[in-house]
Amino acid sequence: MKVLIVGGGGREHAIAVSMKKSSRVEKLYCVPGNAGIARIAKCEPSIGVMEFDKIIAYAKEKAVDLVFVAPDDPLVGGLVDELKAAGFRVFGPDKKAAILEGSKAFSKDLMKKYKIPTASYETFDDPDKALAYLETAKMPIVLKADGLALGKGVLICKTLEEAKAGVQEIMLDKHFGDAGNKMVIEEFMTGREVSVLSFVDGKTIKPMTSAQDHKRALDGDQGLNTGGMGTFSPSPFYTAEVDEFCKKYIYQPTVDAMAAEGREFKGVIFFGLMLTPEGPKVLEYNARFGDPETQVVLCRMKNDIMDVVDACIDGCLDQVDLQFEDSAAVCVVLASEGYPVSYEKGFEITGLEKFEGQEDYYCFHAGSKFDSAGRIVTSGGRVLGVTAKGADLKEARKKAYEAVQWVSFENKYMRRDIGKAIDEV
Ligand code: AMP
Ligand code: GLY
Repeated sequence: MKVLIVGGGGREHAIAVSMKKSSRVEKLYCVPGNAGIARIAKCEPSIGVMEFDKIIAYAKEKAVDLVFVAPDDPLVGGLVDELKAAGFRVFGPDKKAAILEGSKAFSKDLMKKYKIPTASYETFDDPDKALAYLETAKMPIVLKADGLALGKGVLICKTLEEAKAGVQEIMLDKHFGDAGNKMVIEEFMTGREVSVLSFVDGKTIKPMTSAQDHKRALDGDQGLNTGGMGTFSPSPFYTAEVDEFCKKYIYQPTVDAMAAEGREFKGVIFFGLMLTPEGPKVLEYNARFGDPETQVVLCRMKNDIMDVVDACIDGCLDQVDLQFEDSAAVCVVLASEGYPVSYEKGFEITGLEKFEGQEDYYCFHAGSKFDSAGRIVTSGGRVLGVTAKGADLKEARKKAYEAVQWVSFENKYMRRDIGKAIDEV
């Protein structure tokens, strides 16, 4: 098979590494890709993930057999529908199904209608009504822009003043653009967060191993929200009991609800869960693999990824025995100092060759590119996701923090406490 991956971050690098292992993949392509992905796939850096016509033309030119759409924006924007209309076999939800991530109001209404556990909420498209509602609401409270906002459209407000300023920011100042035309205001929940990615074929859902992300920029979960500074998998807090509850009350009901709404979901659903004192509840849905969750999950999957991808597309996931190694993995993101606000780029990355031939170590590229002299240089806030596997979480963490020393670039920044929570178990 010739396969085209759409996307260009650490997640796509991890997907590409998994696909490369498949005996069924003959050639890999990636748009736009990055300097790490370019080692195993032919990349086309000039094509952006929202340039649908160019992606379709490229897929035709390369005569690919399958297109795998990884990021949220093109999924929500309907790239899967356009590729299918052009005759391609595609992995990923169509536009009608990707609304599960594309509209928080939609996903909250779905959960309410089908009694899937989540925080209680109200939806607003009128800022005055939102402000009036806040006057009697309990603090802290959570404000969410309805649409996609690069993972930044969620505000946790401790006081009424902060919440009012939040409504101003989202709905009036339009900080997140049109994503703020509507807003969800929801109850603040407490507990451990866990991410569960799952394969879905429209009817059957097969959850992968659990993971936990570290969203804040600084140690001790301080600082600004980021795309994710590191992950570990599995989560020791995701017990067999929690798994059983989620399968019964969250995972299958979500898939069934989407089908009942005429929005059959095929692809990956990412469940952002909060393990509250009253039981697991949904924080959010994503309609795709998570980044950097994928980096610690796929490297532990025993199946040939193409078998699972095919089963999702063909509706026979019930026949797949999805299996994960009884190991653990930790991913530490190496970022550019100053991320997520402002940072310099274009610094040479050295030491990457140390990962070659190393069984349990991976250096997934997120923001790297080739400069005019052919050197690999930093090109984004999150630069690399250094990942290691071990027999357990402690070993995986030790190995990941050893491996972060192998690579150097100017302004290299990382959190020192990825996976620290496992010490509490
Ligand atoms: P989301 O993009 O919906 O995952 O929200 C980003 C982050 O905000 C989550 O990972 C949580 O840490 C936090 N968050 C979202 N909703 C709530 C809530 N209802 N209660 C507490 N924290 C929340
Ligand atoms: N790591 C969170 C996400 O991919 O949205």
